[in-house]
Amino acid sequence: MRDDIEKILIDEEVIHRRLDTMAARIEKDFPEDTLIAIILLKGALVFAADLLRRVPRKLEVECLNVASYHGGMESSGTVNFLDRHFPEVKDRHVLLLDDILDTGRTLRAVADRLIEEGAIKVHTAVLLSKDKARAEDVEADYVGFAIADEFVVGYGLDYQGKYRNLPYVGVLKQSAI
Ligand code: XMP
Repeated sequence: MRDDIEKILIDEEVIHRRLDTMAARIEKDFPEDTLIAIILLKGALVFAADLLRRVPRKLEVECLNVASYHGGMESSGTVNFLDRHFPEVKDRHVLLLDDILDTGRTLRAVADRLIEEGAIKVHTAVLLSKDKARAEDVEADYVGFAIADEFVVGYGLDYQGKYRNLPYVGVLKQSAI
């Protein structure tokens, strides 16, 4: 797997140090027992597991399956909700966790749906934010790293379903695409 990586963009130690800082901010911003964390699968799985274990607050955790990339390197432009059950969020503060903010369509669509379902407020956290113009007017409240507009894998992010288990964020070699 390492042979397919052109360059490591953010290594594991740097990610973990940044998560310490993000978690400390989240802990400071929310009182005990007020939050429901919603993890967008599958991309935010690794990020959320490492971040939430650093937040020493009583909170609930739910997951949502949404798809916008369908395995490739380009967003399809539509966000599909894949679950039959939607988490109960009425009158709750939600911390929505995603791997990467790109066009903004995913965070916009999910945040709008959570508000429709009765959430008081949707706070958002992403590991990565691509430095680019968004299709939707949305920014995250907690951002791990701003990166250039290039396709990345690892630490939860995939290419055709693979590379999610790389412990760092990297860029694929042309030969692996
Ligand atoms: P939007 O465009 O909705 O994108 O903000 C969010 C979702 O798109 C996927 N995405 C990526 N996946 N490498 C990936 O593996 C990338 O560089 C990338 N950019 C966007 C991701 O699923 C994210 O949740």
